[in-house]
Amino acid sequence: MHQGCATVLCVLAVLGLEVAALEECELARLLQDKLRYEMRLKYMKHNFPIDYTLRVQHEEVLRTANVTRLRDGKVSEASLRYLWFHTCSQAVLHILEVLPEKHPSHGYTQELSQLLDALGVEYSGYRQHPKLFAPIDGIAVAHPLSPQSDVDAVVADLVKQLHSADSRQKAVRPKALLDNCLKVLRMLFGAHCRWDSA
Ligand SMILES: *[C@@H]1O[C@H](CO)[C@@H](O)[C@H](O)[C@H]1NC(C)=O
Repeated sequence: MHQGCATVLCVLAVLGLEVAALEECELARLLQDKLRYEMRLKYMKHNFPIDYTLRVQHEEVLRTANVTRLRDGKVSEASLRYLWFHTCSQAVLHILEVLPEKHPSHGYTQELSQLLDALGVEYSGYRQHPKLFAPIDGIAVAHPLSPQSDVDAVVADLVKQLHSADSRQKAVRPKALLDNCLKVLRMLFGAHCRWDSA
């Protein structure tokens, strides 16, 4: 310990982290592709009645302005990605809940949900808190775990509120939910994953 890790172990540790980062970035990239404008327009707007809205919790709406504010408050980038993952997953689950299986947007929304689940698995291995990502019933229940040491307290708090049943609600269009998902995804993963800004 005193001399640091043996060289071989160091190399393994670094490789492990890189692979984890790669998978996270690959999944985020796939999500970005799936959330592109034509898809959001078709599946989240045209396939829904005009002015259709869902009732969601305030904390479910994570805008770029929220992230800027949290960054100013020195919240870590990893915590912000973790928060994004939770808000976006919750939003997608809410949309999925209102769609009957035969609805033309059902398949698309389910694919988004699966990609997010895969990302959740990535995060759980990384942080070694698999229970944190246990599926949460449609009707939100109290979060199974207390805040983790590696997630900033303010983010742990927001995630808890996100999953608590008696938070304030607001009406939001499904496309607006996914617009935010995508914008914040770009904001948080662009530099982290070294994507070109194009
Ligand atoms: C984002 O900010 C709005 C208010 O501007 C707030 O209602 C919402 O809870 C915030 N979301 C998160 C996840 O912090």
